[in-house]
Formats: sequence, C-alpha cells, structure tokens
Amino acid sequence: MTLYSPGAPNPEGLASAAQARVFEALPEAQSAFFAPGRVNLMGDHIDYLGGVVLPMSLTEGTVLAAEAKARRDEGGLEVWALDASEKALLSSKDLERPLGDWRRRLVAVLAALGLTPETVPFRIAISGTLAGGGLSSSASFALVLARWLRGEGLGEAHDSWSLARILQTVERDHAGVACGLMDPLAIDLGTVDGALRLDCEQGTATPVALGFSEAVFALVHCGVGRRLDDGAYNRVRARLAAALAEEGFSADRLPPQGARVRAAPLRHVQSEQARVWAGCEALAAGDAAAFGALMDASHGSLAEDYGVSLPELDRLTALARGLPGVHGARLTGAGFGGWAQLLVELDAWPELHRTFAAEGFPKAFIATPGGAPRALPLGSSHG
Ligand code: GLA
Repeated sequence: MTLYSPGAPNPEGLASAAQARVFEALPEAQSAFFAPGRVNLMGDHIDYLGGVVLPMSLTEGTVLAAEAKARRDEGGLEVWALDASEKALLSSKDLERPLGDWRRRLVAVLAALGLTPETVPFRIAISGTLAGGGLSSSASFALVLARWLRGEGLGEAHDSWSLARILQTVERDHAGVACGLMDPLAIDLGTVDGALRLDCEQGTATPVALGFSEAVFALVHCGVGRRLDDGAYNRVRARLAAALAEEGFSADRLPPQGARVRAAPLRHVQSEQARVWAGCEALAAGDAAAFGALMDASHGSLAEDYGVSLPELDRLTALARGLPGVHGARLTGAGFGGWAQLLVELDAWPELHRTFAAEGFPKAFIATPGGAPRALPLGSSHG
C-alpha cells in the first residue's frame, strides 16, 4: 500500500528527497547530518507562556552534506542553500542583511556558538523537506547546522535546553519572530518512539508513546504557505500579553489553573493547556476518538479565540471532519497557513488522500516520529 503521494515527502528514508539533492550537489561529501522537523500534536501558542506542549519530531527534515576545504581555497564557510538556489561564501558582514535572510540567520547561529564563517573552512549543501509552514523548518535548519558543527568539534557544547534558548534569541533578533522554546526542543530531544511532553516552565521532557492501535497522524497542506516574519506571530503575542495584563495576570505566564478569564485569547491558552493534559491521557489510553475530539476543539479555539487560522485551514479541517476514518483535524504550529494535522484510521488513508487531492489539497503524508538530529551514513544515496 502506498501511503504517500508522488512528490510528497517520503518517510521511508530520512528526508530522502533532500538527501538526494545534497549528495548530488556535493558528491565528495565527507560528512552528512539530518535534523528532523516537528509536528505539534497539541498545545499551540502556549510554549511562550511556560506551558506544557506535546510535539513529535518527524522523519521529514533538513539535510546537510559537507566537505572540508583545501588549504589553498579562499575563505571560510561556503554554503549552497539548494532550496533557495543560492550559493554564498559567508562572512561576518552577512549579519547586516535584512531580518529573516537565510545568510543572516546562519551567521547568527554561528555567532551564538562562538564562531564566525571565516573560521569554518567547509563547503556545505543544505536542503529540506519541510516547506510550507508549520513543521518547524527554521529550527530544523538551525539544528542541523549546530549539531553538525559539534560533530566536527566546532562551536561551544550546549545541552538541548541551553541551545534552545540560544536559538530562540537568534530567531527573535535575526528573523524577527518572538517564538517560544518548543521547536528546537521538539527536534533536539526527538525520539523515534512517539511524542514528547515538554514542560517549558519546568524544563522537563517526557517521552509519550502513541498508544493507538490503528490510528495515525497525517499532515495535509492547506495550499497557503506562510511566513512568520511578517509580524503576524509577534502581533498575536502582543495581543495576548495585553489581555493578560488587562486582567491582572503576569504577561508571560499562563493564567493560574481555574482562574476566571474573560478575553478570548486567554480562553484559548487556558483551554489549550487543559487539552494537552487530556490529550496525554487519550494517547496513553489509545483512545483515538477522544484525542480527535480534542483536536477539533483545539482548532476551534485557535481559529475563534486566538485568531490564527485562515479560510483554507478552516475549509480543509471541516472537510476532513466530515469524512469516514477521520477522528479529528486541527491547524498545527503557529497557524496563518501551512500544514494541518489529522488523526486518521490507517486503512482509510489511501481513500482520504485521494479525496483531499480531488478537493485541492494534494500535499499529504503520514507523520512518522523521526528521532533526534544525527549523522547520516555517506553510503547508498551517495556516490
Ligand atoms: C511557532 C513557534 C513556537 C510555538 C508555535 C505555536 O512554531 O516557533 O515557539 O509558539 O509557533 O505553538
């Protein structure tokens, strides 16, 4: 049975389309690295309030291949950003580029690790399979770089939590997105067994197995890509902070459990946190119907109370809810476009996939847990 559409991300290998591209670009590569993306199964827009969230890393992600430069070669780090079709010999001056430029973000990650491009004498090629919004392509890009550098003995050593804080600062200062801690942690602490319960306040991560017998998470793209550096993400955060202050709560913490809240954004964050705890129970019990109902409620809350959905995401998730074999559907991640997360019966997926394609949503795949960043063998796909 083929669970994946042609041209859609292929879960059989780790981001195999990206592996093929980087090894074609650098056939003499001496090292290669993979960092997964992530899907957040429940708990959106609460990580920056110290909330507990439930992400899972993915077999789709970002791949980097590298070859050391010969001494006679000019300069330091040369990067081939294959998905942007751009090649650049980086320099510290790239930090002066506009917010969000990939060269600025890359040099900012180096700087945060105590490095400059001039001191990294490598040629690297990078490509990913997370395009479209919502699967954390930015954190995956930063982590493939940071963890590959460590593998080469370069840059300061950091545990996952301190690296996540560093990358959060890079994202804020160099991409203009005041994000939380979830994405780099979901990736760096990812397991191949299932999801993670991340407590962004306590700094703890607990593996959570996917207890369903027949149901799987699927991802379907709504057809509208999104960027967060246009200010939308920061605006919803600012609106939330204002509502928290207005009702006398701390601006960067969840309102205490059981506290009476009035404003719609506060209703979202409070109810979303409760859905994470209920979702953990449903996962442990293998209760797909219960988890699906929580997903539907989460989408409603993100759309109506938090205002981060789009008509295309609403149409896709409403369509999904009416189809046999679907337990639930929600936008996942920041919102404003991108991928939707479904919980579906595995047997029903081929037919569902055809239906989504016929309705204008052809990009879809089953979400498989992808583990943590790691070195890739140079063997088969390369040569
Ligand atoms: C983006 C941010 C995360 C988180 C999600 C929404 O992915 O990077 O920190 O806030 O949105 O849950």
